[in-house]
Amino acid sequence: MVLAEKDTTKTVSGDFYQLYCGEKRGKAQVKNTQVVLARRPQGAPVSEDFSVRETDVPTPGPGEALLENLYVSLDAGFRNWMDEDSGDDVLPAMQLGEPVMGLTACRVIESNRDDLVPGQVLVGRLAWERYSIAGEGDLLDHVAAEFSQSPNLFLGLLGDTGLSAYFGLTRVAKVQTGETVLVSAAGGAVGNVAGQIAKILGASRVVGFAGSDDKCRWLREEVGYDATINYRGEDVPAALSRTCPEGIDVYFDNVGGDLLEPVLNHINQNARIAFCGAVADYNDPDHKGPANLFNLVTKTARLEGFMTHFWMDDYTAARRQLLAWLEAGKLKKFESMYDGVEHCGQAFADLFAGRNQGKTIVRV
Ligand SMILES: NC(=O)c1ccc[n+]([C@@H]2O[C@H](COP(=O)([O-])OP(=O)(O)OC[C@H]3O[C@@H](n4cnc5c(N)ncnc54)[C@H](OP(=O)(O)O)[C@@H]3O)[C@@H](O)[C@H]2O)c1
Repeated sequence: MVLAEKDTTKTVSGDFYQLYCGEKRGKAQVKNTQVVLARRPQGAPVSEDFSVRETDVPTPGPGEALLENLYVSLDAGFRNWMDEDSGDDVLPAMQLGEPVMGLTACRVIESNRDDLVPGQVLVGRLAWERYSIAGEGDLLDHVAAEFSQSPNLFLGLLGDTGLSAYFGLTRVAKVQTGETVLVSAAGGAVGNVAGQIAKILGASRVVGFAGSDDKCRWLREEVGYDATINYRGEDVPAALSRTCPEGIDVYFDNVGGDLLEPVLNHINQNARIAFCGAVADYNDPDHKGPANLFNLVTKTARLEGFMTHFWMDDYTAARRQLLAWLEAGKLKKFESMYDGVEHCGQAFADLFAGRNQGKTIVRV
């Protein structure tokens, strides 16, 4: 059993930081554990697609810093770059035998960079490993010093996923009071936050798609969804009529796939579809789109994609808002926490199999 206890508020002690920086004893005795891409996933990822190895802790060169990863974020979107020739403007294709790319909450151990100082905590697009080198080109989110919360929070509620829910609903969908909001992958990292924020923004009805009855019950009883649809077990068009009797004003879509077509048959005039991601399509490159896109025309509706990290300049302001809601008890934090960096592959496979509730994180 690799799932850790649910309370994840403990701050890690930073053994390496104390050993190497505090007492300057040298890092030869400390090893770097890495999870590498052993083979390219065929369809949904499974744990056998990844393997674990130990290497020496790297030494930062000029313009580089050594970082200790504290928590690894498992993000469905990174499945995109596991296929051969999948590289694009956002990331290059991952290489076989190399550490899997991903987001981490990390601490600076040693720095030859002007912008990073030892002890500083940040979020980086790095890799599934205990120690990483950050070069000039790596995407780093310098969490503002005003935030002293445990670093795992900056991967979930206050991280890329929570911020995706926030920006998707406030900037793309622009949810209005009294509207019906539907969310796919509602029990996932982005989805559970999206449902909660939609309520805070004044939606009168918030409905979620999820893949099991248990997850649907949890969404209604603990997360605060008004109604749910088990997309694996129910007739989706009939369930949409039942759960969204006044039609859908906003669809926050995390999955794409086969759900978009029936949803388009239930949208209201001037509906907005915030297209956050397409989990269902990452494993199925041959998937065809919906046949009824013309509904967007007749309903004068808008379908808009977005990339959250393009709003990085606004992260601090958005985090202040999310934190205020968290502290006021309006937002709840849900995490599926694993212990040990070597379990990243299993955690990633579990994410695609829907075995997560909320944000999937590995405590390194
Ligand atoms: N645009 C951006 O900047 C941005 C940033 C972050 C994340 N994202 C996107 O947000 C989405 C959610 O990512 P996440 O990391 O938070 O993952 P997640 O929602 O925590 O996990 C994915 C969930 O998708 C559901 N799912 C899997 N296969 C499905 C299918 N075929 N049809 C419907 N649902 C399926 C599973 O839950 P069930 O139990 O319900 O099946 C699974 O738990 C992804 O598409 C990701 O790429 C976008």
